[in-house]
Amino acid sequence: MKAIDYWEQRHREYNKKYWITKPTIFAEQIINLLPKKGKLIDLGAGQSQDSCFFADNGFQVTSTDFAVNALDFSKRNLKDKNIDFQIVDLSKKLPFNNSSFDIVYSHLALHYFDNTTTKKLFDEINRILKTGGIFAALVNTINDPEVLQSKSIETEFFLSPVGIKKRFFSLSSFRQLIENKYQIIIFDENGKIYHDDNDNLIRFVGKKL
Ligand SMILES: C[S@@+](CC[C@H](N)C(=O)[O-])C[C@H]1O[C@@H](n2cnc3c(N)ncnc32)[C@H](O)[C@@H]1O
Repeated sequence: MKAIDYWEQRHREYNKKYWITKPTIFAEQIINLLPKKGKLIDLGAGQSQDSCFFADNGFQVTSTDFAVNALDFSKRNLKDKNIDFQIVDLSKKLPFNNSSFDIVYSHLALHYFDNTTTKKLFDEINRILKTGGIFAALVNTINDPEVLQSKSIETEFFLSPVGIKKRFFSLSSFRQLIENKYQIIIFDENGKIYHDDNDNLIRFVGKKL
């Protein structure tokens, strides 16, 4: 199945869920670790509940996703908010200048790419973030029971039972991507979300060196 078709279908389902307009647990946990204001980009924002939360807290927010319907739902629901919505494909070079943002944020969207693309994506995140800026992300863990039902493609990258490709990071593989680039503020497997019992997602918050 093509990833974009899968996601547009999921967004039609997510649109009806109670949690889709609530800030995520991760966003609420980390907001006090961010600078008090500044330019924040939300990568793979889906229906922009966290983008909305950050905008309400005074950040200048760019909310991005590759699913056009997700951003359409977001624009409709959040038309009174001052949010810049942009279609961005995370598997490509990010369409932003070096050092454009004070915060790069992503909730459950950096784990859909093969090893080469993942490395490039993390380099891109580092490129668009200002020195001293914050990178905050929640991602899948290799301890997720879904791994056992998935077919391995390459290290930590799988074909899931529903037919899309997914990465499940270990702390050590994630560390390789951020090592020597960030001062670590949070790095653990204590991430939780509302719509899944899995409560050992990888949380990362770091300050760009
Ligand atoms: C698990 S959802 C998370 C959405 C939102 N951040 C949240 O937590 O509700 C993953 C998101 O990644 C987006 N996504 C998947 N592949 C992408 C890609 N190549 N480029 C941009 N977004 C992508 C999907 O459309 C979806 O919105």
